[in-house]
Formats: sequence, structure tokens, C-alpha cells
Amino acid sequence: MWRYPKILAHRGGGTLAPENTMAGLRCGMQAGFRAIEFDVMLARDGVPVVMHDPFLGRTVPGSGHVYDYDALELAAMDAGGWFGRAHEGEPVPLFVEFAQFCKAHGVWMNIELKPAPGYEIETGGVVARIAAAMFADELAAGQMERVPLLSSFSIDALMAAREVAPQLPRACLMSELPPDWERRAREVGAVAIHTNHRHLTPQQARGVKAAGFGLFCYTVDEPARARELLDWGVDAFCTDRIDLIPPDFLTRIK
Ligand code: G3P
Ligand code: MG
Repeated sequence: MWRYPKILAHRGGGTLAPENTMAGLRCGMQAGFRAIEFDVMLARDGVPVVMHDPFLGRTVPGSGHVYDYDALELAAMDAGGWFGRAHEGEPVPLFVEFAQFCKAHGVWMNIELKPAPGYEIETGGVVARIAAAMFADELAAGQMERVPLLSSFSIDALMAAREVAPQLPRACLMSELPPDWERRAREVGAVAIHTNHRHLTPQQARGVKAAGFGLFCYTVDEPARARELLDWGVDAFCTDRIDLIPPDFLTRIK
């Protein structure tokens, strides 16, 4: 069962703002979104930061890996200038600050665990421990619709998250559903399957739903495709085109 919002802004503000930044988050919120997906990995000092690539160069000028720098060093770097001059100096967010802002503003989070190779277990454990502490009251009260959903392509990261915070929901990210998708999802105790909509078939969508999992697709940028996926039984999706597929998209198409 999917108890969460159905349309999420991908990486905060989709392609309308620098990804995985506070500016991106604010852009998504400005467009009315109260649910986002974003990526988290560990800096050298083991502090999680909000970033997609495990290396510098694309969104943050510089070279080397994210794990070559401490979190505060990354936070002093420019994660917005690549997008445009208006966003120059936008920092790499610290996960804790980013998540606290989301929580304070009622923005539901799909936290994608994005470990650098070799850091899967550490990343899953650290992020899950922090998220569980941040949402301890909601977890105790059974307000599961408010608790973040942890997703990852890494089974090891999800297993580590389960080890330290079994009460936090998890989702298996799979670009394409392999024949043994259900075994993998059950192995990590996942509540949902997150998959690339480009590879999904209607039969697979039915199979996932019939097996009792939530079904989430990334990254859906065309309204007609969004309607089609929802017709297939897809529960939710994230979009880079928060201008074309706004959060009230569902009420508009009814
Ligand atoms: O979580 C869905 C999607 O973000 C996965 O791919 O590369 O955009 O993080 P990516
Ligand atoms: Mg992601």
C-alpha cells in the first residue's frame, strides 16, 4: 500500500533549479510541492550530504570524490553556479539541515541512499539512524505517512538501514525489474518498488501491485505518460518537470 503523496519533485525542484540544493527545495515548494526525492551520500568525515554524483565536476566545481572532502568543506562549495549565475554560491546541503527544513515545512521525503562504491553499509546505517531519530515521535505515534521512505539501488545500504532502524520504511530501486525482483524486495523488507518508467510494462505493474508492494516510477516528465502510468496502477512518481506536472495534477485530470 502506498500511503504517501503521489507526485514528488525530483531532486527538490526538478530541472527548474539546481538539483539537491535548498534553492531546489524552495523552488519545488514554490510550485506547491510538499513531497520530494533527493540523494544522500557520505562526506569524508562520515557526515551525510545531499548530492547525486559521487564525484565533483558536474554540479560542484572541482575534482575528486565527495568522500575526499569533509562535509563542511563541501558545504562551502558552489552547488548552484553550474545552473546559472542567480544560484552562484548555493551550498551543498548537509543532510540533517536539509531534512530538518523539510520536516519543519511539512515536506515529505523520499531519501535516496546514494552510497559511493564501498560505502554502502556505512551510508545506509548513518542516514537511517539520523532519520529515525528525527522522526522518533512520529514513529512512536504510528504516523507512518509522515515518516520518510528510504530508497536505494544498493541492497547492502537498505540492509544496513534495516539493521539500525527496522521501523523506517524502505524501497528497492531497480532500473529495470529483474526476474527475481520480488525476492530482492522481500529480502530487504521493502514496502515499495521504485523503477524507471521507461522499462516498466503494464504486466509488471500489475504483478508488483498484486504482490502487495507500492509502485513508484522515476522520472516522469510528460503529462500523457504520467496519466498512462497511473492507469496501469502506478502509485506515485517523481518528476523533473514540476511546471508541467504540478502537485494537483491528479485532481486536474479527474
Ligand atoms: O529515486 C529515483 C531516482 O532519483 C533514481 O535515479 O540517478 O536520478 O538518483 P537518480
Ligand atoms: Mg535520486
